[in-house]
Amino acid sequence: METWLTLIFHFFALGKLLVPSEARAFFVFGDSLVDNGNNNYLATTARADSLPYGIDYPTHSPTGRFSNGLNLPDIISEHLGAESTLPYLSPDLQGEKLLVGANFASAGIGVLNDTGVQFLNIIRISQQLSYFEQYQDRVSSLVGPDQAQQLVNEALFLIALGGNDFVNNYYLVPYSARSRQYDLPDYVEYVISEYKKILARLHELGARRVLVTGTGPLGCVPAELAMRSRTGECDPELQRAGELYNPRLVQILSELNSDAGADVFVTANAFKMHMDFITNPEAYGFVTSKVACCGQGPYNGLGFCTPASSLCPNRSVYAFWDAFHPTERANRIIVDQFMTASDEYMSPMNLSTILAMDARE
Ligand SMILES: *[C@@H]1O[C@H](CO)[C@@H](O)[C@H](O)[C@H]1NC(C)=O
Ligand SMILES: *[C@@H]1O[C@H](CO)[C@@H](O)[C@H](O)[C@H]1NC(C)=O
Ligand SMILES: *[C@@H]1O[C@H](CO)[C@@H](O)[C@H](O)[C@H]1NC(C)=O
Repeated sequence: METWLTLIFHFFALGKLLVPSEARAFFVFGDSLVDNGNNNYLATTARADSLPYGIDYPTHSPTGRFSNGLNLPDIISEHLGAESTLPYLSPDLQGEKLLVGANFASAGIGVLNDTGVQFLNIIRISQQLSYFEQYQDRVSSLVGPDQAQQLVNEALFLIALGGNDFVNNYYLVPYSARSRQYDLPDYVEYVISEYKKILARLHELGARRVLVTGTGPLGCVPAELAMRSRTGECDPELQRAGELYNPRLVQILSELNSDAGADVFVTANAFKMHMDFITNPEAYGFVTSKVACCGQGPYNGLGFCTPASSLCPNRSVYAFWDAFHPTERANRIIVDQFMTASDEYMSPMNLSTILAMDARE
């Protein structure tokens, strides 16, 4: 009798695990644009774990997201009809929660291992991929290897990487080691060739739909305006980095897609998406696209956003939250573009097309 009940209990428990929800799983890799709290568990200076970070988050408290509220992955999860993925290092990422997906991102990292060394202990991209393998073993022991593989193959992936290889490496200090080693076009080639290996590995590990964001207009962020611009114009040197890097990214993704024989990789032209509201903030309901909401110094672009910083009264009329990262409201505009924009922004297709194509009966 007891065994029967135990058996029935297990059957139901397992049945529930096997069909967790209608939503596909979601996996996130990359840097602070998409980190949702992994760095809280690390001894690093790249962190967003004190107010006013999180001031507009549902709990009104900091979570490790580099935003006043939600970040890009959170808003994508809303579109998937799923709860936000947990940071991979969170102790709550157990059992059924694993089936929602996971976020492996870590603020400060880049394509290259020497990017972000000043932040000390962060999860470099090769380690993020190792954690993803470990994740798959854990899901496999939960639901079996076939189900685990299906969950990964049907999932959506997001990777935001590369901006730090410029702002936190090549251009971090004048005469940086990398800038003495490479001129800009050769450096871009080097970063791109390493990124291609990372993306090929992600495909090998089972990813079949990967949204890859190019770098934003690095020369226009409040930090760079504060450090490099006299007049408030975007810094031409950092803009040039993005102008060289982003088209090369599109090329390697199309090479990877033809190797795979499928549209695995989709690029979002984050540069253009940001430039739209940077050049015409009023059209998007912003009072400024130059001054960060939280910070100090010119353009609120110097140092970190801390409890001592000056804070704008209304976060939804600012494009930039801190010296580098968009506000929740700007993130929403960007994700709307991911979903529905034309092929000038989303190539070879937008996210709503992907979601419709992959929808199960
Ligand atoms: C970065 O480090 C990882 C792990 O040590 C290594 O596998 C990888 O080849 C390194 N990448 C580069 C570009 O040196
Ligand atoms: C912030 O600005 C938005 C957009 O202009 C407006 O709808 C909202 O009421 C403002 N919030 C506050 C608290 O003033
Ligand atoms: C993007 O998405 C919309 C649906 O929201 C669709 O009508 C449109 O054709 C798509 N554009 C491209 C270029 O795929």
